[in-house]
Amino acid sequence: MLSKSKARYLISGGWVKGLQAFSNHYSGSITMAPGVRVGKHSVLDRYMGGSIHIGTGSLICKNCKLVTCGGDINIGQGVQIGDSAVITAQGGVTIGNHVLFADNVCMIANEHIYQDINRPIKDQGCYTKPIVIGDGSWIGINPTILQGTVIGKNCVVGAGSVVKGIFPDYSVIAGNPARVIKFYDAESGKWLKKDEN
Ligand SMILES: CC(C)(COP(=O)(O)OP(=O)(O)OC[C@H]1O[C@@H](n2cnc3c(N)ncnc32)[C@H](O)[C@@H]1OP(=O)(O)O)[C@@H](O)C(=O)NCCC(=O)NCCS
Repeated sequence: MLSKSKARYLISGGWVKGLQAFSNHYSGSITMAPGVRVGKHSVLDRYMGGSIHIGTGSLICKNCKLVTCGGDINIGQGVQIGDSAVITAQGGVTIGNHVLFADNVCMIANEHIYQDINRPIKDQGCYTKPIVIGDGSWIGINPTILQGTVIGKNCVVGAGSVVKGIFPDYSVIAGNPARVIKFYDAESGKWLKKDEN
């Protein structure tokens, strides 16, 4: 059985049973499959509508802020998201199964339009693209993952990286701007540095 809420906010006051619900008129819902745990002071916020789904056995640690901003947040099964994650999902955020996030991960699925020099940027609107994180990946501590980023299966994102782009399965991605620094070479069965290719 999924637990389901049409509330805009769920704020965790303890583990998941401590969640408090506040009613709202936005479309969408918050659904959590069995075994989901959400840590203290984490907030699931359907601001401007959109849905949040968290799959079986997933863990959202404490002080996390997941805000739909009108997009959907889909978190797979067996995912672990460390403390203080920020996910803003205007263009949608999809996280596959068994993804591990260290603390302080930031994912932002929108950007402000800035091209008109005669208007404040805050009045120019946004454009959005989804973020997708593949099954089995590991996202290291303190990265920023920007809109339009697609990370393949069993990839690694290095600590402190600023990630924007499309990255194939079995890549190690690191730096600012993040690039593939290692990849899995199926022929040799080894992970190779990019410049050893
Ligand atoms: C990405 C990572 C896994 C790579 O580890 P690795 O495969 O052992 O890679 P190496 O240490 O051999 O590094 C390869 C190259 O990438 C660089 N590099 C590694 N991690 C980097 C990072 N986070 N940012 C920028 N460059 C990085 C190294 O300096 C090295 O450069 P060089 O070839 O010029 O010497 C690791 O460095 C990392 O960032 N781990 C995250 C740790 C973490 O967040 N833990 C939380 C626990 S959940």
